[in-house]
Amino acid sequence: NQTTRPTMLRPVPQEMLERGECPFDPPSALARLDQRAPLSRIELRNGAEAWLVTGYDQARAVLSDPRFSSDTVRHRSAMNLRPEEVGVARGPVEVPARQDGMFLFMDPPEHTRLRRLLTGQFTVRRMQLLESRIREIAVEHIEAMRAAGTEADLVPAFALPLPSLVICELLGVAYQRRAEFQERTAISLNLTKSEQERAGASAAIYQFMRELVAEKRQHPADDLLSGLIHGDAEPPLTENELVDIATVLLGAGHETTANMLALGTYALLEHPDQLAVVRDDPAVLDNGVDELLRYLSIIHIGPTRIATADVAIADTTVRAGDTVLISVPQANRAADHWPAPERLDLTRPRTPHLAFGHGVHQCLGQQLARAELRVGLAELVQRLPKLRLAIPAHDVPLRTDMLIFGVHSLPVTWS
Ligand code: HEM
Repeated sequence: NQTTRPTMLRPVPQEMLERGECPFDPPSALARLDQRAPLSRIELRNGAEAWLVTGYDQARAVLSDPRFSSDTVRHRSAMNLRPEEVGVARGPVEVPARQDGMFLFMDPPEHTRLRRLLTGQFTVRRMQLLESRIREIAVEHIEAMRAAGTEADLVPAFALPLPSLVICELLGVAYQRRAEFQERTAISLNLTKSEQERAGASAAIYQFMRELVAEKRQHPADDLLSGLIHGDAEPPLTENELVDIATVLLGAGHETTANMLALGTYALLEHPDQLAVVRDDPAVLDNGVDELLRYLSIIHIGPTRIATADVAIADTTVRAGDTVLISVPQANRAADHWPAPERLDLTRPRTPHLAFGHGVHQCLGQQLARAELRVGLAELVQRLPKLRLAIPAHDVPLRTDMLIFGVHSLPVTWS
């Protein structure tokens, strides 16, 4: 149990990950597959076979069909993955073998029970309170960048700390422990660190969550974890479930939002007309963030499901036991759902997209993610009116090797 991240991506053929001329467009290999059929049989690099869904309607059909399972253990055997290549790991700490609260990888009714308890915590009131904190955190970081000079790497200076601190707010991490939390979460995601260092950081985060749960049990406050512990869950959530839930929230909400913030900024800088639209009227981001989410579709390959029965899709039958990978980037470019889907147009009417998934597992944190993007990008654009890349665009290092697409760093200047 030594992994630091879900590595479902590893066996996907490289050509399905590499970007071409435009870093924001899906790999051209996916478009070629999609032209032939909305769902294709592909061979993974470890020899296993899988279905890759590139069609929008077919992707929605799979994600809303209970015959497709999210169970991690089945993923592993169907995809030929080694045990250490599966799931959100906890590092080399003493942990139970079963992942009690990893509801992202559960099916109904197990999933339903935990999801309902969680949904009850994402209240309108809490989201409103969080939004004002998001603004304070964003402003604080942008002003710190300005105070320090005229250049910065936007990833460590803004994109990573913002969602990390928002999760601290959500979970109720005490102020004096936030530096430690941020440092550990940053290391666990930093590829320049060794596997061992990242595993160590993940283990420390797991331990941190355990202590946080104990703390909230003794001293409840107005936060999500306290709400779960002292709410009306029947039977009450166990220690392991609570720690796992906190870890899922961090795992699902940190790297995703951080990459949307950095890649979203990069995309705006590369589309000056769209940047101008935001500058003129930041309220365009109310709908515009969904267009950015659609256009960038940062979940590279996946969500992943396993068929539990034979299911007819398009002209094909997916057999029980087969692995199905959804290509969100390609599905979100469906020409019959968006006119000129390859264009970033922040003024498009909002149409359902798949960037947050679909069906029972659809992103639980989507309102929070939207608020972080809306507020974060608006403050950035307004407070740094001369913001631009500090290096040539083609030198921006892309995360083609990661589960979540984005940029490894984004050197910017505003002088
Ligand atoms: C699930 C995307 C931000 C919490 C998902 C899924 C996607 C997704 C595609 C579905 C996975 C599946 O079907 O297997 C994103 C993107 C984000 C983002 C693109 C940022 C731009 C967040 C945030 C949080 C969060 C900020 C919370 C703090 C979750 C949780 C799930 C989830 C808990 C699992 C839901 C379930 O299994 O029922 N997300 N997410 N996400 N997301 Fe997000």
